[in-house]
Amino acid sequence: LTIFGQIVPQKDPNYDENNVPKFDLPDPLTTFSGKKIKKSSEWIEERRPELLTFFSENVYGKVPCKIPIYQWKVVEQSGNALDGKACRKQVDLIFKKDNHTLRFNILMYLPNEAEKAPVFLGYNFYGNHTITNDTNILISDAWTRNDKSLGIDNHRLTEDSRGVRANRWPVEKIIDSGYGLATIFYCEVDPDRDDFSDGIHPFCYIEGQQCPASDEWGSISAWAWGLSRAMDYFEQDNDVDASKVIVFGHSRLGKTALWAGAQDERFSAVISNNSGCGGAALSKRRFGETIARINAAFPHWFCKNFRKYNDNEVALPVDQHELIALIAPRPVYVASAEKDLWADPRGEFLAAYFATPVYELFGKDGIPSQEMPPVNQPIHNTVAYHIRTGEHDVTDFDWEQYIKWADKQLLKK
Ligand code: GCU
Repeated sequence: LTIFGQIVPQKDPNYDENNVPKFDLPDPLTTFSGKKIKKSSEWIEERRPELLTFFSENVYGKVPCKIPIYQWKVVEQSGNALDGKACRKQVDLIFKKDNHTLRFNILMYLPNEAEKAPVFLGYNFYGNHTITNDTNILISDAWTRNDKSLGIDNHRLTEDSRGVRANRWPVEKIIDSGYGLATIFYCEVDPDRDDFSDGIHPFCYIEGQQCPASDEWGSISAWAWGLSRAMDYFEQDNDVDASKVIVFGHSRLGKTALWAGAQDERFSAVISNNSGCGGAALSKRRFGETIARINAAFPHWFCKNFRKYNDNEVALPVDQHELIALIAPRPVYVASAEKDLWADPRGEFLAAYFATPVYELFGKDGIPSQEMPPVNQPIHNTVAYHIRTGEHDVTDFDWEQYIKWADKQLLKK
């Protein structure tokens, strides 16, 4: 490994900026065959499709078949949630194909004062009932990861975990700001384990197939698929302003939000909270989590083709700034946390910075300088960024920024 002219042994994981290898970052505005992109129309017609195909076949995996909503059912509804401020709905989306059935539930809080509300849509890690203490929220019977500190055991959810993640979901603040909130338990779409016999994947198997082919969807791609089906539903829900759906996610679910937003242009804005490796962070920096580590620890998240780049980031003809660029010209927010070195805050920042030229092609403002802003000093441009103090988490500070920025970018307040 050559850095600053010397050969140094590489530490793994590396948390030292001096040990970041020198690397060439692919130019989002030069096609794979070397053509310079000078106009937004060329980006839309030539560069965006080839990048999307690359990420689809070599990083997250493509969705091999179409699975439309078979039916949706409002399983619970009240106009009187949050002391009368909001309407609560719990809607099952049901999918059927051959002998397969899958359902996942969208929990929604919508402000009563708005006729059609802009909505933040995001997955939760441990069930819809964890996001508030509201006793009306149904408890999922899907497989879950265990977390003893949250009272979650035996891969099952119970009353014990009601409200345990309320700290990450300021429902009242969101409603008071005029937005709705919609959330889904991600394991209902695909349980987060290395098992391709469950979740949505089997819907697309051809006879005898037991797991996705090398270029077919891993779990992140499956979760992104679920967000797009939620969007299909929103387009039919008169209480939702489907032209203002902001897809949000933390960590692995931030990777998912970026991939969903990159593919599905109906999402009008995207928020990546501490998404790290395979999310907003540049892979070629090899800082904190690396491709080899993520593919080893979570073999089901990406498509198998992505393993070609294990300890071989130089061979990658793309990097994550181009994933962010795929969202252009729609607003995108990348957020880091100072102590979340595993997710490489500087790599997340630089990806937002290097996505900026694509936004500028559309006359939008991105990250103005390669210098990281000080902690807790957000940049709220079309490409937005902050690094806040603290750990890998979703905090009130994060949500305050997302709401302010959405007000500015989507509601033009
Ligand atoms: C692990 C994983 C990260 C991921 C995180 C999370 O730390 O290595 O890539 O973002 O889990 O989802 O919380």
